[in-house]
This record gives sequence, structure tokens and C-alpha cells, in this order.
Amino acid sequence: MGDIAWWQEGVIYQIYPLSFADSNGDGMGDLRGIISRLDYLNDGTPASLGVDAIWLSPVYPSPLRDCGYDVSDYTDIAPAMGTLADFDELVDRAHARGIRVILDLVLNHTSDQHPWFVASRSSRDNPRRDWYLWHDGGGPRRPPNNWRSRFGGRAWTWDAATRQWYMHGFLPEQPDVNWRNPQVKAAMWEVVRFWLDRGVDGFRLDVVNHYIKDDQWRDNPTRWWYRESPLRSLIAYDRQWHIYDRDRPALKDVLREFRQLLDAYPERMSVGEISSDDPLGVAAALCGPELLHLTFNFAFTHTPWRAAAFQEAIRRWEAALGPGSWPTYTLSNHDVPRHYSRYGRRAAARRARVAAAMLLTLRGTPFLYYGEEIGMRETAIPRRELVDPVGKRYWPFYRGRDGCRTPMQWDATAQAGFSTARPWLRVNEDYMRRNVAAQRDDPNSLLSFYRQLIWLRKATPALRRGRYEPFQEGARESLSFLRHTAEQTVLVVLNFADRPTRLVPDRPWPSRRWRVLLSTAGRNGEELPGLAPVFAPYEVCIMEAL
Ligand code: GLC
Repeated sequence: MGDIAWWQEGVIYQIYPLSFADSNGDGMGDLRGIISRLDYLNDGTPASLGVDAIWLSPVYPSPLRDCGYDVSDYTDIAPAMGTLADFDELVDRAHARGIRVILDLVLNHTSDQHPWFVASRSSRDNPRRDWYLWHDGGGPRRPPNNWRSRFGGRAWTWDAATRQWYMHGFLPEQPDVNWRNPQVKAAMWEVVRFWLDRGVDGFRLDVVNHYIKDDQWRDNPTRWWYRESPLRSLIAYDRQWHIYDRDRPALKDVLREFRQLLDAYPERMSVGEISSDDPLGVAAALCGPELLHLTFNFAFTHTPWRAAAFQEAIRRWEAALGPGSWPTYTLSNHDVPRHYSRYGRRAAARRARVAAAMLLTLRGTPFLYYGEEIGMRETAIPRRELVDPVGKRYWPFYRGRDGCRTPMQWDATAQAGFSTARPWLRVNEDYMRRNVAAQRDDPNSLLSFYRQLIWLRKATPALRRGRYEPFQEGARESLSFLRHTAEQTVLVVLNFADRPTRLVPDRPWPSRRWRVLLSTAGRNGEELPGLAPVFAPYEVCIMEAL
């Protein structure tokens, strides 16, 4: 790959705006709060985190039935988060620091309060009727087909006033739009242009592979068994193969149009969220030079803590992607439990470093989730405080996604420096010890480690753009790989085990002499001794061939 784009070599940081920083004391995060923390994210020096872009989860007006993923106006800012003027200022100030801004576009569905849906449901002959997915079914008792909602229950709700069903892949308050209607498409492209013209650098497309549904409304076939996670075989949604309510071939035509629109502006990007029965296959099929720039691969969010399991996840992703495509990696986001907690209690602090080093040295775009850089953990939310509709519905079997969405922990003052008021979700009880202020000046903190990794990545072409080559395939305890450019070779060794491990590559050493660029075992700047080196428990060691 000759030229490499910012969205390939850059580090992207996901902000959950409701929980990042509250500037006006109402307990909810807002745009001015984000502005006030931009220097933390990147002030141009290694004293800051050094991220290249921020992706903001939805900031639009919303009744907040699904925490903003139910949009009631695509071209404005939620009053609780600020104004369009604040947004423009955020973009300007971010750009001044070299930080790009990526917005979350939720175009599969709107809120039921969106004027389009209000019009659509008002009568069968409203001009907007066909903007959503309406169907007679077999009358009020028989929905059109067996489709289920991702959040529980049927994917169809009967509208008594107009005597038809409407389709919703998520909550009934999130009706799916009709992407096969050219007017809808045109209206969506207007939305995209609105933000591009305001200087937005890219978009994350929410559930992008759900946009187009089967035009014959066929039943999904039954799936009897969920091999990866047998418990899911109990959930009605997961007991279907979702071949008719997502992953339809016609989606590619929509994405081609979207890409042309984006390409009319310089240096813009897109990243698609895919949830599918074949996540890698679909993610690979939907990215490339004519389609989305990137697609998410969430494999790391559920890979068990074993070097071989991660190596296999990487191998599959590299193999699935075509030559014109580029990988992405994610450890945590607003939909899954935070990885620090997933990695257990005793070893979490050391595992979090190994995981961060992996994320930031693999070939591909790393997506960080706010707070992971200080080791924020999943917060236990009592039932009466739950906000996430999915948690409310499935409690106590599944407690929902609130636990990974709690306020950013800035310092040890009340509410962790997030707000002066009681926040919309409680702060994790560990905030007095675990916060930015406590870690900022400590060279041994996790935050300092993230900073070192990110700035090392910036300074090391092989880490940003180099080819990926496994160095010891099938190793049980460690993950080691090379990154090559024509001028540079870097070797990354990650010991996943709580005991020392010897590196025995399954191919010739590309060099006899290596200088350590970054090590968690105090070897920085040293030369690596011998050709069968031993690495300490949970050691991270990044070396450059001399
Ligand atoms: C995506 C979002 C999730 C949201 C859902 C419905 O999966 O990441 O938070 O609930 O779409 O919009």
C-alpha cells in the first residue's frame, strides 16, 4: 500500500458524550465538556494521549429511549449537549489540535418521535407513509413474518389507528426506515452532506448491515444451536439465521452511493458497525475502495484470554480482508463489558497492558473506548438505576450496557470531576484511586503506558503501516509478530502468561540484533540478549531490528 490515509494509521478514541465531561452541571455530559478536555486527548505533545480522531456516540436530539441511538432530528444537537454553534467550535478546536471528528450516524432507524415517523404513522396515504416499513400482515394478531427485535419481542408493532404493522429491528420506539424508497435515500444523503459541510471528518454507521431487508418479507430460518455461546440459544433473536432482515445483497448499491458522496470531499472516512451471523465475512465484504473505508471487527471483545485465541482472531481477519481493505481492532465499546473487568481481578492490571500493546501495534486502525486508558472497570448498577432498555428487560440474566457507560473518572473530587451534579449514571466506586489526575504524572501508570504506546506508534512507520507477519504461530503463552516496511522491521512480543516464556520463532530471525523500543520489564533502549530470549510474566516488549 503506497499512500496511507489518516484513518488507517491514526488512533481513534470513542467518546460516549453523555459520560465524558459535563460543563453545565446538569449531570449529563455535553459538547463544551468535550471541548474542555481536548488537551487531554491531544495537545501535540507526548504529555497528552495523542489520539488522532474522536468518534462521538450520538449527539442529536433524542427521547433517549436507547441512549441517543433513537434520533428525532438528524441535523441538530440535543439541547442537553449544546448547540450547533458549540459543535462548530468543537470541530474547529479539535482540528486545531490535529484531532479529527467522527460522528455516529444512526440511519437504520429513527426515533418514533422523528417528524418523518410522526407523519408516516398519521395515515396510510401520508406522503411519508412509505418512508418506513409498513405491512398488513394477517391482521392485528398475525405479524407479517417471524422476525424478532434485537432487544426482545417481535420486530413488528401493530398500529391500531392505521391498522398495519411497522417493522423495528430494535425497540418499538425505533422504527426502521425504508431504504428502498429513493426519497428516503435522498433525505439521508442530505443529512450526510449537512455534517460534511460542517467539517466532520467521518462517520461511524450504526448497524449498517441492517439497512436493507428482504423485499418479499420471508421468514428467517430457525437456528437451533449457538455454538460460540450456547446460552444465546435461549434468546429468541439468536434462534434465527438472520438472512432476510439483514445482510441483503442490495445494501452494496446503497453503500456505493454513500462512498461516492464521501469521496466528493477530501480525506473523509467511514466505519461500519456489523452485527451478523457471519461478522468477519460481512465486515470484509462491505469494506474496500468502493464501499466503506473500514468495518468493525468485534472479535477481541469476546476472545478469551489466550494468546492462541487472539492469534487465531487476527489470522482470520487478515485472511478475510481483500488486498484493498484495512483491519480495525476494538477491545471495548459502549455495548460490551469493559475489557479491564473481562480480564479478571488478579491479573487485570497486567493483562490490560498486554491488550493495549496488542491493540496499538497490530496492523489496522485501533479504536479506544474512553476510560480504557486509565483502566476503567465495569460498574455494578442497581436495578432501580438502570437506564439501558435491554438491561431493564433482561434483568437479572443480563444486566445491560449501563455498566460500561458510566462517567469518565477525571480526578478524586466528588463525581470524579465529571460533573458538579449527580450524574445520569453513577460513578464507579473506585474513582478515588482510579482517575486521570492520579495517573497523569505517574510514569508507571496505565495512562502513561497508553501514551507511550501511542506516541511510539506515531514515531514508528512499521507499526503504523507495516505488513503483519506472525513470528511464532500456535504459541500457547505468547503472541509475537513482525511488522515490516521496506525500511524497518519491528518485533512485538506479548507474554499472555503469568510465567516467563521463551521466544522460539517458527521462522528465521530477520535480524540478529534488536534494540528494545518499549518494554514493561525495564529493558528500554537495551539490546536483546541472544536468539532465544526469555520474557518476563505478562511482559510487553517491542523491538526494532538494527
Ligand atoms: C448499535 C449501537 C447500540 C444501539 C443499537 C441500536 O448496535 O451500538 O448501542 O443500541 O445499534 O441503534
